[in-house]
Amino acid sequence: MSEAILHDIRATPLADIDVSNAAIYADETWQPWFARLRDEAPVHYCADSPVGAFWSVSTHDLIKQVDTNNQAFSSAEGIVILSAQELEEVSDSDVPIENFIAMDAPEHDVQRATVAPSVAPTNLANLEPLIRERAADILDHLPVGQTFNWVDAVSVELTARMLATLFDFPYEERRKLIYWSDITTNVPELTGIELDLEQRKADLMECASVFARLWAERAAAPPKFDLISMLAHGENTRDMINNPMLFLGNVLLLIVGGNDTTRNSISGGVIALNQFPEEYEKLRANPSLIPNMVSEMVRWQTPVIHMRRTAKQDVLLGGQQIRAGDKVIMWYLSGNRDERVFPDADRLIIDRPNARQHVAFGFGIHRCMGNRLAEMQLRVLWEEILKRFDKVEVVGDIKRLPNNFIRGIAEVPVRLIPKRG
Ligand code: HEM
Repeated sequence: MSEAILHDIRATPLADIDVSNAAIYADETWQPWFARLRDEAPVHYCADSPVGAFWSVSTHDLIKQVDTNNQAFSSAEGIVILSAQELEEVSDSDVPIENFIAMDAPEHDVQRATVAPSVAPTNLANLEPLIRERAADILDHLPVGQTFNWVDAVSVELTARMLATLFDFPYEERRKLIYWSDITTNVPELTGIELDLEQRKADLMECASVFARLWAERAAAPPKFDLISMLAHGENTRDMINNPMLFLGNVLLLIVGGNDTTRNSISGGVIALNQFPEEYEKLRANPSLIPNMVSEMVRWQTPVIHMRRTAKQDVLLGGQQIRAGDKVIMWYLSGNRDERVFPDADRLIIDRPNARQHVAFGFGIHRCMGNRLAEMQLRVLWEEILKRFDKVEVVGDIKRLPNNFIRGIAEVPVRLIPKRG
């Protein structure tokens, strides 16, 4: 980062800092902004921004306090910086989707409990051989010796295959899942990129109708261990089909939950190992570090930049008076770079003893439902990569997306160096 940019960041009055600006995530200038917030105002009020007024919570400790205080902080008004209603108004999308990540207890708990068994350890153990086979197949067909985009060839493809497996979705059409996830999160106000909103609406409706068809098929058949079958047969969710926006919302939650996050952890991991070559050395010398490295990569990447809560009551947080109705943003990306918890936090350290203490999966009742699945996929992928390649070498410019919610990586040009001997 240039000295001029650093100077501007240091000179900005605290009250003018606005970390909702999506551009800072595309050009990777977010670190010094958050370092200032953590040091000078860990609970910071931004009175005026294109997404309205909001509080930023930026330290590891305070993020955990918010995420575990469901009495004071609600998810029901929306989990991104814009509220559900605002999202609708600005995107004019007419697709007012609902799902359990944006609900409070008790509705949240009931719906989560129905879907959760699909990603419980026993089911994951059943899935692992298939995930490994699909990962190996991708790696065996990569163009060794050529430069290609790792994001599309590996990160997107592997997550598409995994999602198709989870939903038992028609395998040949798996890339549709990725497309639907992309148009869900690429809302203009989050990305700063214009989008054809009519097309978005039509595409989301297509998604709803494809899943409604799958639902009807699964409901008529004996229960199976895919996510749609579980919802269609679950005592508390089997009527969900009568509320199309709730149904679409939950399907999209699972697609988005399992897509962007894992995809960007895979891409981010390759970037990090290239940025810190001594860690790549460590990994080659000791592949048993992979499970810890996976946690460290998820910390370092932090695929979900923020989650939002809304204060249900007046509450004092970090010495600041938050009022009922205020938006409170937990910046996980900042919490995971908090030097008070992670020394040398901007470095990837694959044997970091407390890597698992990261907040990338959140905390409390909404803690990521798919965290074990994500870790399993990343572990299996890196085990298979190490069997085949000495290095996945980044050989060109990385392209990131302007998005303040998902830490998105669009391009990572790489070349593979096969394993010797
Ligand atoms: C590295 C990968 C992943 C990361 C970083 C991630 C991150 C997150 C975060 C930050 C939350 C909200 C936590 C909170 O509010 O306290 C969340 C919730 C959730 N995630 Fe993930 N996620 C990942 C992978 C997955 C996968 C593979 C699935 C697929 C099933 C998934 C499904 C969900 C669901 C359903 C929720 C909502 C849980 C609730 O509200 O109770 N996630 N995730």
